[in-house]
Amino acid sequence: MRLTILGGGGFRVPLVYQALLADHRHTGITEVVLQDVDPGRLAGIGSVLAALARDVPDAPAVVTTTDLDEALTGAAFVFSAVRVGGLRGRVVDEHVALAAGVLGQETVGAGGIAYGLRSVPESIRIAARVAAVAPDAWLINFTNPAGLVTEAMSRILGDRVIGICDSPTGLVDRVLRTLGVAPAEVRIDYAGLNHLGWLYGVHDATGRDLLPGLLADPGRLATIEEGRLFGDLRELGAVPNEYLHYYYDPKGTLDAVRSAPQTRGAFLREQQDRTYHEIAAGEPLQAWRDAWREREATYMAENRELTGAGEREHDESRPAGYEGVALAVMRALARDEPAELILNVRNRGTLDVLDGDAVVEVPCRVDGRGAVPLPVGPLPGHAVELVRAVKATDRLILEAVGSGSRAAAIQAMVTHPLVGDPAIAERLVDSYRAELPELAYLR
Ligand code: G6P
Ligand code: MN
Repeated sequence: MRLTILGGGGFRVPLVYQALLADHRHTGITEVVLQDVDPGRLAGIGSVLAALARDVPDAPAVVTTTDLDEALTGAAFVFSAVRVGGLRGRVVDEHVALAAGVLGQETVGAGGIAYGLRSVPESIRIAARVAAVAPDAWLINFTNPAGLVTEAMSRILGDRVIGICDSPTGLVDRVLRTLGVAPAEVRIDYAGLNHLGWLYGVHDATGRDLLPGLLADPGRLATIEEGRLFGDLRELGAVPNEYLHYYYDPKGTLDAVRSAPQTRGAFLREQQDRTYHEIAAGEPLQAWRDAWREREATYMAENRELTGAGEREHDESRPAGYEGVALAVMRALARDEPAELILNVRNRGTLDVLDGDAVVEVPCRVDGRGAVPLPVGPLPGHAVELVRAVKATDRLILEAVGSGSRAAAIQAMVTHPLVGDPAIAERLVDSYRAELPELAYLR
């Protein structure tokens, strides 16, 4: 069985392959096709995978190609993990926003909208080729902004596209560990959109909700990263996804990002320039591992510094990384082995504040037939307005992509809670158009 990874020259690809090496007998994957538009990055990551596979009997074979159709042909699973415009684009997303006085972040606010305006057209092209060349494949989408991109792809592929993110699984894993319960013992209320979700219920077999007890216990709450990041959560009655920090403390997080010596994108661009060079120079595995460790240790560092949340937790034994989620989805689909995972899928009535086609991030049951949302309690009142506003922003981005309308892109900026101001919105769209050739389609 063939797994195709689009964006196969990307930095996280070795994580996926490593997870596969530990588990390929269960997933049935015998061949991995890496596809990327950049042959240099493709060759570099290919050599990291070769080093990982050394001494592993029956390691899945790795093939590299720059041709999309060739890569898709015969694929049972397609992982889409592309970064349109690369880290150059991420740096522009950040800088233009910060220069206009609003948050410049990969997936949130103005930066996320600019990224979406690049990601969606390419993801639509990919979805159309999957429909033509590999209509029976499952498409697992990592491409950010993952919720928006999954919704765009679902208009072509229906429920054969499933969006994934590591952050909800990580959050729930931390909370359940602190509560001392196993996932199978509880029913979870986690819902929202990608990078905009809340955990608002952990119900045990007797129907009792274990979450209020945790929220009322500051000492215990502070043992999890989100507790340290957000402080007192009693009033909210929920544990927010770490990305909510940008919404709950817009001024603090903006100042923190502004006063950092470098933006995240600029840091990663330098790091990757160096690392791909070292990989080519002959120490592929060591170079990749060192860079990966440094990247993890500095993840969301400004927010953690701002709140005194301390170092990013890291525990090799936890299944929570994005490769863990991807493999769990693939295993459930390939082996028809039911699993419950938090995924980005079409709403189908799960959250009554959104329409049925809206892609939402909710617990799902996954088996050989696909991913189906499980019932969750209604979204907390404080979450509804935010979710609606960000979904409305996403819809305007899809409209801007569909019609090429600059006015729709500006309206998307105005609609986002972290932009709002029409004059700033117009300035943002025009600066992004001037600096990003991928946005020249906006007229
Ligand atoms: C998490 C999020 C991803 C995001 C990444 C950014 O894993 O779930 O959606 O792309 O963080 O991390 P980075 O190291 O690129 O800043
Ligand atoms: Mn994510």
